[in-house]
Amino acid sequence: MKLSSLLMFVLMLFAAAPASAEYGDVVINNYSDAAGMRPVVFPHWFHRVRFRCKVCHGDLGFQFKAGGNDINMLKIIDGQFCGACHNGEIAWSVENCNICHSGKPNLPTQVHESTLQRLTPPAPPASAVSTAARP
Ligand code: HEC
Ligand code: HEC
Ligand code: HEC
Repeated sequence: MKLSSLLMFVLMLFAAAPASAEYGDVVINNYSDAAGMRPVVFPHWFHRVRFRCKVCHGDLGFQFKAGGNDINMLKIIDGQFCGACHNGEIAWSVENCNICHSGKPNLPTQVHESTLQRLTPPAPPASAVSTAARP
């Protein structure tokens, strides 16, 4: 691949990033493993077809970044983040620990199995990039 086309490819990846979570599940594991709980798996698409982006990423303040929100159970029970809906009114309540804490132990924080991840080839190794850059 020519360096210019490689650069285009990388730029395209960045341009596409804001939609990458639409089809994937988000694994959230900033604290869970360390606290002896399974990592949280947030099914993004399942929620996205029920609510507009703005509800969560605007009104509820969720950052567009896997693991980018400092979430804990006190905040959830206080009605923040997941707790804005998982309160027994809009959706089932927090006592259903295992529905949220459903990931395999040690799964890192990530967007899991997004369509984008499956369709894009893995990045070339650094050596290929430096070779391409030579005149
Ligand atoms: C609606 C989804 C949801 C439910 C239900 C839920 N949790 Fe969580 N929980 C989260 C999220 C999101 C985090 C942050 C995950 C992370 O960063 O590791 C979290 C973090 C935690 C943590 C680590 C942070 C802290 O607050 O100490 C513990 C421990 C925890 N949950 C226990 C529980 C227990 C016990 C239950 C059931 C009584 C439960 N959770 C139910 C979503 C949920
Ligand atoms: C029900 C709430 C909810 C709705 C609706 C929602 N999102 Fe999300 N979104 C989340 C949560 C929760 C995360 C993960 C945040 C975390 O890990 O702390 C997330 C993560 C993301 C990410 C980051 C993924 C990454 O690569 O790190 C993007 C991008 C995103 N959402 C875009 C969207 C778009 C676009 C829409 C509307 C089409 C949307 N979201 C609708 C809750 C929502
Ligand atoms: C804007 C409201 C809203 C927010 C915020 C929200 N949820 Fe949900 N969630 C729902 C609704 C509504 C359902 C469907 C409830 C039902 O079927 O009874 C649901 C269902 C789920 C399910 C079950 C999906 C399935 O396949 O049945 C999981 C898991 C879940 N939520 C996790 C989370 C976690 C983790 C967070 C925070 C990171 C979160 N939710 C934040 C509204 C929300």
